[in-house]
Amino acid sequence: MRTTVGIIGAGPAGLLLARLLHRAGIDSVVLESRDRAYVERRQRAGILEQGTVDVLRAAGAGERMDREGLRHDGIELRFDRRRHRVDFPALTGGKSVMVYAQTEVCKDLIALQFDEGGPLLFETEALAVEGAETEHPRVRFRHGGGDGAYGGDGAYGRDGAEDVLECDYVVGCDGFRGVARGAVPAGLGRTFERTYPFAWLGVLADVAPSHDELVYARHDRGFALLSMRSPSVSRLYLQVPAGTDAGSWSDEEIWAELERRLETADDWTLRRGPLTQKSVTPMRSHVHEPMRHGRLFLAGDAAHIVPPTGAKGLNLAVGDVVTLARALAHRTRTGSDELLDAYSATCLRRVWQAERFSYDMTALLHRAPDATPFDDRLQLARLDRIAGSRAAGTDLAEAYTGFPIG
Ligand code: APR
Ligand code: PHB
Repeated sequence: MRTTVGIIGAGPAGLLLARLLHRAGIDSVVLESRDRAYVERRQRAGILEQGTVDVLRAAGAGERMDREGLRHDGIELRFDRRRHRVDFPALTGGKSVMVYAQTEVCKDLIALQFDEGGPLLFETEALAVEGAETEHPRVRFRHGGGDGAYGGDGAYGRDGAEDVLECDYVVGCDGFRGVARGAVPAGLGRTFERTYPFAWLGVLADVAPSHDELVYARHDRGFALLSMRSPSVSRLYLQVPAGTDAGSWSDEEIWAELERRLETADDWTLRRGPLTQKSVTPMRSHVHEPMRHGRLFLAGDAAHIVPPTGAKGLNLAVGDVVTLARALAHRTRTGSDELLDAYSATCLRRVWQAERFSYDMTALLHRAPDATPFDDRLQLARLDRIAGSRAAGTDLAEAYTGFPIG
């Protein structure tokens, strides 16, 4: 097999990159180790920045998002039983966010790829990236029996057979545990990371959200988040100790703890309903520099991880692949490597701003196991400042609604 751009991973990064390259007339092949149902069902992110919304619309992938997505003009911060609304348009000159789950973004991009794009091979695991330092990098992979765009009937090989994808460029969109980052020689890259002593227990509930916007709550018992997937499906999270087993929490215990942490001084109440999904997400900050080695590029979670508090993961991935697609199109049009050579530095400026915001939002709202009464008062003072200062509120609103791409 041969293609111009070999893409490892069919999450938001890989799927959007394939779409943007197709629109630029550049062929690619996407290799995805999981099956289509798993990718379309995997509960991850839910908030699209204005910039992400604009990119999806421009790529012809925004039609269902515009029909079914929920535009949100603010979030509520809840602390000390108080409620403070951060008004995005008022603080950012008109920006907002869209509530539209990454599962739906992936479904839309997979459908477009199957209809119009190049090969998207599910159940096809990349085993290694070779020759990244050469002009002909390659991906060694193992065929699966999945329902790939052209791989389902075995057109590209038999179940389990090993094969090689010859490329001009390889892009690792294979997430935190993928293989692409491992192709960067240890001495040529640097990793910056921080782990947290807590995680998020997330649930899906068949009940209308109890507030019309997201609610981020700081409580002495720990953080809680009220989010949503639709007018009839709620998405809720609780801070739990790192390593918590989701099965160790009963539905009743989850609802009772959410009610405690989301408590207010007024008569607001939390509506309950059947929980349809329960999982624990670990929290980490991680950046791999540089995001490139020869003709291998890293994008999305393959290059960086943020704690989910700032809803930045998917939106950072979008910024990376927009920057890379623009650089590859420039190379195809002009023969110049100028934008490709600037890819890593261009992305990392935005990545580190998102890392800073995600870290600050996490520190602002979560209660560390070793928190002291002094730490508690500092958190409340920071929240009070955001509630009472246009400058402090603007910093949060500008970061939450998104940093410029490129
Ligand atoms: N071969 C093929 N595919 C692989 C391999 C491999 N060796 N290793 C991982 N993958 C696939 C995974 O199965 C997954 O579908 O790569 C994909 C990576 O997707 P994500 O983890 O979603 O990462 P990314 O596309 O960068 O998305 C970034 O979007 O999913 C949200 O919030 C989430 O922060 C995340 C953001
Ligand atoms: C979600 O709806 O999954 C979600 C929303 C906001 C966050 C994180 C996750 O900060």
